[in-house]
Amino acid sequence: MTQTLAAATMAAYRRAAGCIAVITLTNPPVNTLSYLLRESFYETFRRANADAEVKAIVICGADGKFCGGADIKEFAGKFSGPSLVALIDDVEQSKKPVVAAIEGMALGGGLELALGCHYRIAHTKAQVGFPEVTLGLLPAAGGSQRLPRLITLTSALELITTGRRISAPEALKLGIVDKVTDKNALDMAIDFARDIIGKPLESRRLSLRTTPCPPDVESFLDEALASIRKHSRGAIAPLACLQAVRASVYSTFDEGLKKEQELFKMLLTSGQARALQYSFFAQRATKKWSMPSGATWKNTSARPLRKAAVIGLGTMGRGITVALIKAGIPVIAVEMGLKQLEAGKTVIMSMLEKEFKKKQLTKAYREMAAFTLDLAKLQEVDLVVEAVFENMSLKKQIFQQLSSLCSADAILCTNTSTLDIDEIASVTTTPHLVVGMHFFAPAHVMKLLEVIYGPRTSPTAVATAMQLAQQMEKVGVVVGNCNGFVGNRMFKLYAEQAYFLLEEGAIPEQVDQVLEDFGFPMGIFKVSDLSGLDIEWKIRQEQGLTGPKQIPGGSFRHRAGGRYSPLLDILCERGYLGQKTGQGWYLYEKPGGRVPTFNLWLHKFLEEYRELHGIQKHYVGQDEILERCLYPLINMGFHILEERIAASPEDIDIIYVFGYSWPRHWGGPMFYASMVGLPRVLDKLNYYHEIHPDIPTLEPSSLLKKLVANGSPPIGTWGAFIKEHNSKL
Ligand code: NAI
Repeated sequence: MTQTLAAATMAAYRRAAGCIAVITLTNPPVNTLSYLLRESFYETFRRANADAEVKAIVICGADGKFCGGADIKEFAGKFSGPSLVALIDDVEQSKKPVVAAIEGMALGGGLELALGCHYRIAHTKAQVGFPEVTLGLLPAAGGSQRLPRLITLTSALELITTGRRISAPEALKLGIVDKVTDKNALDMAIDFARDIIGKPLESRRLSLRTTPCPPDVESFLDEALASIRKHSRGAIAPLACLQAVRASVYSTFDEGLKKEQELFKMLLTSGQARALQYSFFAQRATKKWSMPSGATWKNTSARPLRKAAVIGLGTMGRGITVALIKAGIPVIAVEMGLKQLEAGKTVIMSMLEKEFKKKQLTKAYREMAAFTLDLAKLQEVDLVVEAVFENMSLKKQIFQQLSSLCSADAILCTNTSTLDIDEIASVTTTPHLVVGMHFFAPAHVMKLLEVIYGPRTSPTAVATAMQLAQQMEKVGVVVGNCNGFVGNRMFKLYAEQAYFLLEEGAIPEQVDQVLEDFGFPMGIFKVSDLSGLDIEWKIRQEQGLTGPKQIPGGSFRHRAGGRYSPLLDILCERGYLGQKTGQGWYLYEKPGGRVPTFNLWLHKFLEEYRELHGIQKHYVGQDEILERCLYPLINMGFHILEERIAASPEDIDIIYVFGYSWPRHWGGPMFYASMVGLPRVLDKLNYYHEIHPDIPTLEPSSLLKKLVANGSPPIGTWGAFIKEHNSKL
């Protein structure tokens, strides 16, 4: 196997048009610049340079892909073989003109190599970019020094600090590539190379240039720093990228390279780079789903989907309809009344129009959506997504109807955010075809899709939902059936602690600030105001925690076997539902207002509430806020792993990064726990549980305790640990 790989990895050499050496980077699937490829390239390039008959050199990539960059796996080990910096220097210093023929992509190290070439010819469909920052790194083979010397400082900064990939036509506009063709880029590069033989090359060597700067470069860089600080949400790589680009302005090329290396080493050993790389691999791993029955992504086929239906055109149904149509699947959209149908249709058509303007859709979208009140029209669909109110009896009624109306092999999906999939399936004649597809709002934008299997769900239904996720360009994660599934079950504890903190003495501004400093784009109370407090209120009612169906036996601040905070219910009862009513945890200038301001009423109310219920106010510090909000959520993650509701910590982390805006540079809750150290998480949970014995969810899970007792093994081994630990029971 290693030998086959080694044989496949090479910089192949051939001659074209007599005097042109063509070097083809070959390392499937995307020609990453691994150690073997670098070694081979070093030899091949020297051969081309030494051959007196060769007058120009063209570098291209095998299989229509120039180069996908460095081999990420090498970051974890020791670097060996020739360095990319040295190879690119050889290329740039070559006395013979070197032309990059970019097809497919030139990313990261691939683009750095192309920048070392004297000219760049790209195919129209190729993409270029420096994605290093998204892995917690920076372009460290001269990219941060050469790009600013080639294009404007503004564009270089933007591309390096965001990792945005751009198309070849945009790269041409910015000056990154010299020519773009919709024909064969390699043929064009060979012709071009022949034409420039003998022409002077000095001006084409980017290391010899100075970085062109705007007039007041100092204040330009200061402003850029302020803006990056604001948007990076605590990530250090974008700031390091800025420092590297700054060096290209104030230092010589060699000094700049040195700075680039220093910064790279600092980033490489930081926890953030580890977290981001973990997240990169975790995202890929979610595709390889498995079920306890032994069914996996490998041994199960998905059903083809020709037509789908969506039932309920509220907040979620509208987004789901758009997401399906964007994926090329025609939709029959169903509502319960004419007024709701018309309202849904108007919004959906305008959403589709917007997507069309963004070039995400073709004109045919108008024919892809049909609107009806008649469930009988669903006979011909292959899949239905139900998105009606979160109410079990309503959902059961709908599924019963679907069961008799749809074809016997239609996949029946529910978008419920908390309800039991199996209970819903129980009213159908095809429970094996019932599967949860939990979208996140707005459904046509948010990347996450939790795919939930019940005890009777067939692997085919799961495979079809996962394939649909991919078709909609979403990240699907397969999870088991329990209240709230993975994401909401954990989130409930995060929100609950935030309410308890208010009761104990904190204010929403304080809690939100700590969470935003951690890296969430918005604190929990701002999120609650934005989504509407009534979403959670309705769920609480449905669960019998409050409202007319409240289960008897609890007390005002003690329900369902633990401490309960009725703060959210009280606000909802008074009509304070968040942004839409102009008041929630914060105050807004008007209903529908977006800017949260100090809510004097709430602050007075909290004081009165504490007094009324005899709650001793205490100072709530930053550490307590972060630990009380995050550790119970993490603790629930351990319960979920132990119960095998999630197959791996990676699955939980991906759910949090893509569905709950967990800062990616902290990997996800489970990776974060491993970074903080499991013994610390355990100690803190024990500590808070001792102080608050009436909050049972603060009690550490047995899995967490066992992992700590076994020396806190690395996160990658938890899966095996759980299997072994479960089999011993
Ligand atoms: P919504 O209240 O905005 O919309 C529900 C829609 O269903 C309404 O337009 C209503 O007219 C329609 N409907 C009710 N009964 C119907 C029937 N018999 N036939 C056809 N249409 C019917 O609710 P939303 O927020 O869209 O939630 C829908 C589902 O998605 C719920 O199960 C909810 O828990 C879940 N969900 C909601 C999220 C959110 O952020 N709003 C996120 C993820 C899941």
